[in-house]
Amino acid sequence: MCGIIGYVDRSGNPAVLDVLDTGLSSLAYRGYDSAGVALADDDLTVIKRTGEVDALTEALATVAPDDVSAGIGHTRWSTHGPPSDANAHPHTDCTGEVAVVHNGIIENYETLKAELTQQGHVFESETDTEVIPHLIEEALDRGGDRMSAFRDAIDRLTGSHAVVAAFADGHGLFATRRDSPLVVGLGDDGYYLASDVPAFVEYTDRVSYLDDGEFVRVTSDGVTVTDSEGTEIDKSVSTIDWDPEDAEKGGYEQYMLKEITEQPRALRKCLRGRVDEEAEQVSLDLELERESVDRIHLLACGSSYHAALYGAQLFRARGIPAQTFLASEYGDRALAGDTPLVIGVTQSGETADTLGALRAAQAAGAETLTITNTVGSSAARECDHALFVRAGPEIGVAATKTFANQQTALHLLALWLGGGDADPSHIAALRAIPEQVQSILDDDSAREVAAELVDSAAYFFIGRGPQHPIALEGALKLKEISYEHAEGFAAGELKHGPIALVTTETPIIAMVTGDDERARKTVGNVKEVQARGAPVVAVTDGKANVEQYAQHVLSVPETEPEIAALLANVQLQLLAYWIARDMGRPIDKPRNLAKSVTVE
Ligand code: F6R
Repeated sequence: MCGIIGYVDRSGNPAVLDVLDTGLSSLAYRGYDSAGVALADDDLTVIKRTGEVDALTEALATVAPDDVSAGIGHTRWSTHGPPSDANAHPHTDCTGEVAVVHNGIIENYETLKAELTQQGHVFESETDTEVIPHLIEEALDRGGDRMSAFRDAIDRLTGSHAVVAAFADGHGLFATRRDSPLVVGLGDDGYYLASDVPAFVEYTDRVSYLDDGEFVRVTSDGVTVTDSEGTEIDKSVSTIDWDPEDAEKGGYEQYMLKEITEQPRALRKCLRGRVDEEAEQVSLDLELERESVDRIHLLACGSSYHAALYGAQLFRARGIPAQTFLASEYGDRALAGDTPLVIGVTQSGETADTLGALRAAQAAGAETLTITNTVGSSAARECDHALFVRAGPEIGVAATKTFANQQTALHLLALWLGGGDADPSHIAALRAIPEQVQSILDDDSAREVAAELVDSAAYFFIGRGPQHPIALEGALKLKEISYEHAEGFAAGELKHGPIALVTTETPIIAMVTGDDERARKTVGNVKEVQARGAPVVAVTDGKANVEQYAQHVLSVPETEPEIAALLANVQLQLLAYWIARDMGRPIDKPRNLAKSVTVE
C-alpha cells in the first residue's frame, strides 16, 4: 500500500530519473492514484501528478533536471485526503529544504498539525505525512544535524511508518521504519531504498532488510544503519533469487495474464525438493516439532483467507483440528495460554491485519508459522517459522499464482504434519499439478464462456468441501477486476436464502469434480437453479455427469478431490480475466485496491 523508492548514485553518471521512474512503475501495484518525486541537488525539485505513474513519467521527461545525484519517489494509495497533486508525496517543509515520502498512518497527526500550525507552519495538503517535514524543520531550527533532526521528528510519531527524507544540498537520504516495510538495495552504481524489492530488482539482487526502529543514512559513500539509540549496526546482506524478468510484463497485455500463465513454473518451484516420489515422502525445511502440533489456527485476509479455508480442510482431513479466522477479527480469539500452532497465510508478508493477528497470537504464547511469498517480509522475520510458497514476484493486484502456490504449500504442510508419508497416487497427483494446470491454460473455453456471460446481472459461484473456498475465491477475483456483482456460496447454502437472487440473468458457476457424495449433492443444487432458468457453467472433470444441466462447461483434468480445487480455480481465474478484459477494465490496477494492505 503506497510504494517508496529512493536512490543515491555513486557512479558519477547519474541515472536518478530512470531509476525513480522505473521503480515507481514497478511499484504501481502498491497504489496508483498519484505519484511524485523529489530530486536532490543544490535545491530540491518536487514534481507530483495525480493519476497513474505514466502522468508523472511524462512530466519527468519535460520538466525535471537530469543531473541530480539522489532522489526519492512515491506512488500513493490515499488514506488521508483524496488523490490530488497537493496530496501526492513527496511533502516538503516551509523552506523547501526537506522532502519526505511516507507509507503507513500517523495516528497523532491532527495533534501534531495543530501544534505546528500554532508555531507558524503552513500546510498545503490534507495528508498525515506532511507533519513529518515540518517536524524536521522545527528540529533543525533548534540546532543539531540532519540525522538528529530526522530522529527527533520520527520520535514524535505514533502509528506505522516507512519514511524516506531527502535534503537540499545533497546530504544523502535518511530513512526509518516501524510496522511498514523498507529494504535497502546495494548496487554497483548506487544505493536504493524501497518499500518492496521489485522497485530495484533490475539493478541489483543484493538487499538488506531494515527492522523496526532502525535508521539508515545513505550517501554516495555508503549505507550506515543505526539502532534507535544511534549505535551502528552491522546488517546482513541477502541475495534475492528473483529473475528481473519475473517482474516485467514480458509481452503480455497485463501482469495478471502473465502470472496466470506462469503458474505451472511457479508450482514446480513450490514442489521442488519437497516431494520425494520414490520415498513417497513430503519433506519441508521447518524446525517445527510436528508431534507437538495438536491444533491449528489459520489467519489471513482476502484471497489468502480463501487459501487458509482450503488449508484448514486439508489439516482436518489428516486428523488435525484446524480453524480459519479473518485476521482482522482474530484479536479476542488469541487468549493467553491458548496455544495452537498459529499459521498466518499472507503472500506479501506485510498485511497489517495479518501481522496484527500474528502478534496477538505471539503475545498469547502461541508458536507461529507464516506461509508467504516474500522472503525478508515482516511475517517471515517475526514468525517462529516460515514456509515460502516460491511463486516469484506477483505484480498484478489480483492474487493468482500466489494463491495456487499457497494452496500447494498448505497441502505439503498438511501432509508433512500428518507424518510426511503419502500414498503413491497422492504423491503422483501432487507432482502432476503443474502439467495439469498447463492443460487448462492451453484450453480456450474460459474465453468463449466469458464472451457469452459478459452482460449478466450478477454471478454466483458454488462449491462444496475443498471447492467451497474456490467458489469464494472465484467470486472475489471476478468482482475485483470486473466490478460486477459476484458472490460465492457453499453449494448447500444456496437453497437457504441466496436462491432468491437467482434469475435467468444470473449465471451459476458450479464446481463439480469427482463422483462422490459431495459431487452428487452439488449436481442436485445445479438442478435447482437450472429449474429456475439460471444459466449454469459447470467446472468439472466430467465424472458426475453435470454437463447435461449446464449451458457451458469448463473442463479440468481428473485428479484427487483436494487437488481438483486447485485446478478448478485456474478456470475461474481465466473466466474472471476474460470477463474483465471484454469489459475493458484496468485489470492490473482495479479501482480503490492496492496489493499490499499495510493499514488496519
Ligand atoms: C485479492 C487479493 C487480496 C489479498 C489480501 C491479503 O486478489 O490479492 O485479497 O489476498 O489483501 O494479502 P496478503 O496475502 O498479502 O496478506
